[in-house]
Amino acid sequence: MNAKIRQAVEILKRDGVVAFPTETVYGLGARLFSEKAVKKIYALKGRPADNPLIVHIADRSQLHLLARRFPPEAKKLMEIFWPGPLTLILERASVVPKSVTAGLETVAVRMPNHPVALELIRGLGEPIAAPSANLSGRPSPTRYQDVVRELGNKVDLILDGGKTARGIESTVVDMTQIPPRLLRPGFVTLEMLKKFLPELALPLEQERKGVASLGRSAVSPGMKHPHYKPNCKVVLIHPSNWSTALSNWKEKNLRLGVIACHHKIPPHQNIVFRKSLFGSEKNYARNLYACFFDAEHARTEVLLVESLDEKGIGRAVMDRLTRASKTSA
Ligand code: TXA
Ligand code: MG
Repeated sequence: MNAKIRQAVEILKRDGVVAFPTETVYGLGARLFSEKAVKKIYALKGRPADNPLIVHIADRSQLHLLARRFPPEAKKLMEIFWPGPLTLILERASVVPKSVTAGLETVAVRMPNHPVALELIRGLGEPIAAPSANLSGRPSPTRYQDVVRELGNKVDLILDGGKTARGIESTVVDMTQIPPRLLRPGFVTLEMLKKFLPELALPLEQERKGVASLGRSAVSPGMKHPHYKPNCKVVLIHPSNWSTALSNWKEKNLRLGVIACHHKIPPHQNIVFRKSLFGSEKNYARNLYACFFDAEHARTEVLLVESLDEKGIGRAVMDRLTRASKTSA
């Protein structure tokens, strides 16, 4: 085990908190069974107490500790997508602290596909509870320097894993509902999941569109809180309206940031940050939060972002962008 990871393990054992890389975004980890460390995470992030954490494991043997039941479909998804960017909601075993599940009778579990994350969990010999390593409501860090900027001296240690491979948070699927429900889209796409779960239901809020109220509460508590917001206004622009919208914004006397997937962005005096031509939706997703942080650094006032079609990874990107562009909770 490398010396830094060994140090991180020691910190976790002593109820400290450690930021670490995963293949999606950086996480802020605590020993699952340390009430003290889990409390620190909520306090440090300013995270609402009703928003549960994901439990990260390094191998299947740790699962039995965490959940009461494993539906065959859940086992199938684990076989196919783990380790990887998929979080499964299962019925919680009684030893899982309620502080981690925010009082729910379910638990979120994922096996990350990153050597540092896996070595850290193995070194500790216990699962690690970890939300994304950002202050509540902010974009998730995907680079070491963004974690430093975001959490700096608030955490005991930050493990450096460079830039993460995926760039957006894991897909979350609730396996305790019949049929199972997608709660948060991610790199494991709806299309990929439907091959194994043809009945998979969409997030409740998407079903609610156009419906006043179904009288049910949000199933994924985290999704009702404001999220992914940089400290500038985010405006989504549809590709069909790109040139007109950009020209209009350029005329205003504002510090603009522009992020485009497929369009070129010629320099302009009012554009203080620009990044474009990512080549693919995957690459766009991978770089999105890094661009948010860079745009902030350039003191952007309004960040114009090209929207994608809501299919494949585009669905996950649009989920984050729509939330980032919301003006109120
Ligand atoms: O990729 C990821 O998932 C990253 C890395 C660090 O693993 N983690 C992450 O954690 O994004 P966080 O806390 O930012 O998002 C966890 C999401 C929240 O929307 C939360 O409400 C939901 O998972 N969640 C956790 N436990 C749940 C449960 N028992 N039932 C429903 N949703 C749950
Ligand atoms: Mg988060």
